[in-house]
Amino acid sequence: MADNQSFDPKKAEAFAGSLMDTLNKSSLCLMISIGHRSGLFDVMSMLDRSTSSEIAAKSNLNERYVREWLGAMVTGGVIDYFPETKTYHLPSEHAAFLIRAAGADNIAVFSQYIPLLGGVEDDILKCFKEGGGVPYSKFKRFHEVMAEDSGQSVLSVLDSHILSVIPGLTDKLKSGIKVLDAGCGSGKIINKLGLMFPKSHFTGIDISEEVIEKAKKEASSCGLKNTEFIIKDLSDFDQTAPDEIYDLITTFDAIHDQGKPLNVLKGIYKALKKDGVYLMQDISGTSHLEEDINHPIGTFLYTISCMHCMTVSLAQDGEGLGAMWGEEVTKDYLTKAGFKNIVTNKLAHDIQNNWYVVTK
Ligand SMILES: C[S@@+](CC[C@H](N)C(=O)[O-])C[C@H]1O[C@@H](n2cnc3c(N)ncnc32)[C@H](O)[C@@H]1O
Repeated sequence: MADNQSFDPKKAEAFAGSLMDTLNKSSLCLMISIGHRSGLFDVMSMLDRSTSSEIAAKSNLNERYVREWLGAMVTGGVIDYFPETKTYHLPSEHAAFLIRAAGADNIAVFSQYIPLLGGVEDDILKCFKEGGGVPYSKFKRFHEVMAEDSGQSVLSVLDSHILSVIPGLTDKLKSGIKVLDAGCGSGKIINKLGLMFPKSHFTGIDISEEVIEKAKKEASSCGLKNTEFIIKDLSDFDQTAPDEIYDLITTFDAIHDQGKPLNVLKGIYKALKKDGVYLMQDISGTSHLEEDINHPIGTFLYTISCMHCMTVSLAQDGEGLGAMWGEEVTKDYLTKAGFKNIVTNKLAHDIQNNWYVVTK
């Protein structure tokens, strides 16, 4: 040990305790993901004190598995246990952050990223040794979880919180404008806007065939005629973007994990009308590790970055910016792309992202 002289036993003991806590909390995250996906939290939020058999029956699940899951939930402080009746209860104060009905407050959705990332551990480890990246195709359920994530943090508050970030936008959308969403994923945001504003036209672009197919299917099942979806690699958007045709361009968590983020931003600048607005949702961070120590979900975001955002960009032979590129670097990239005015907004429901309103 290099600094044996200064070994502080109390500090060591506290750290060992913190590591034990990490083992408990990370295990709990896996179980919360199962509670979300199985519907157990939603069912339990409707039940009074119940036995494991009653909970399993109501959820249509295997009792033995439900009982072991309940053990993790009770020891993890999520669910209350009453030994005299062998019954369990999910307090409403906890359900408020664990069930689908909680909308934007449902934190259980995000727990799914942990098992999802565990699925590529071997591939990531290989990259630690050899460099390179892990492509999107290796991530089981990424697009599904992402759609659920943005379904909550964007879709559920689109009307109430997000459109109002740009004064006058709702009126313009009502009267009819042209909108582009770059890196649109499963297209849920574009399709919802399409339904809300029939006089406007919406284009979604994404590199993934899988998500564009989903987006098109949803649009056609809603009978939408004002949305279109295009499969395209945006890495050369600086060259291929049309000249000044869009009134509004949006990106939702889609710049930092691009192969060539600056080219995408330059393309957005090119495609935006002179008086158009670019709305960019991207991960909040400071661009300084020493300041991000105080970020409420800093470790979570650096982990997602290392095991997804950064690596999928590197897999495109890209820059590998990482999710924690931060506000300072984001503004620097936007300025390099040509933008003159950048306003950073924070929305109360969304501690994970900054909402930049950007104009020429
Ligand atoms: C983090 S996801 C966000 C998806 C969506 N905006 C949402 O909020 O649900 C980033 C998206 O960028 C897309 N993407 C990544 N690299 C791309 C590229 N080179 N060209 C176009 N799209 C790309 C991915 O396929 C993915 O759907």
